[in-house]
Amino acid sequence: MRMPQISDAAGIHRLISECPPLDLNSVYTYLLLSEHFGASCVLAGADDTLHGFVSGYVPPERPNTLFVWQVAVHEQGRGQSLGRRMMQHLLQRPGLAHIQYIETTVGPDNRASRAMFASLAQKLLAPIDEQPLFTRDMFGVHAHEDEPLLRIGPFAIASLP
Ligand SMILES: CC(C)(COP(=O)(O)OP(=O)(O)OC[C@H]1O[C@@H](n2cnc3c(N)ncnc32)[C@H](O)[C@@H]1OP(=O)(O)O)[C@@H](O)C(=O)NCCC(=O)NCCS
Repeated sequence: MRMPQISDAAGIHRLISECPPLDLNSVYTYLLLSEHFGASCVLAGADDTLHGFVSGYVPPERPNTLFVWQVAVHEQGRGQSLGRRMMQHLLQRPGLAHIQYIETTVGPDNRASRAMFASLAQKLLAPIDEQPLFTRDMFGVHAHEDEPLLRIGPFAIASLP
């Protein structure tokens, strides 16, 4: 597991395209994430075979929070704790040692993602709170599920096994 580099952007775009229901963003978005936010993103796999990716950032007004944007594990790599291990890897980076909350949005029907974040919260011995955030009408003409906000925390990263 490592930080993404700009040379990974096209590969990340391909991985995300193979991981519905994730929204596929432009290659340029993945270039920006790799160039400016690599310290809060993680990639799993070798150059030509990417197995997993997490994008995240620290919202400027909440420096103790890691907002997780997209989590993707290739179909062939699922069920081996890779999603949760990528999250734990991120939290164990020295630059994120001050993080006390994880926020993310997850559709109501995304069982796998909800289970992964529940499992992470359990490892962190932290509660999960859920509130409405992005509702389907906010996506305009683009059909989209609601994206409620999940907030995990507070936690101490030192509690991770
Ligand atoms: C969500 C996703 C990243 C999970 O990746 P993964 O590596 O298979 O998940 P993990 O193996 O780390 O699973 C973590 C926990 O969730 C549970 N889980 C994972 N998938 C599950 C499923 N489909 N149904 C029920 N539980 C599931 C696991 O059993 C595990 O629980 P445990 O730690 O108690 O044993 C992966 O399914 C994926 O890429 N899905 C498509 C894209 C997506 O929906 N991303 C998230 C958007 S918010």
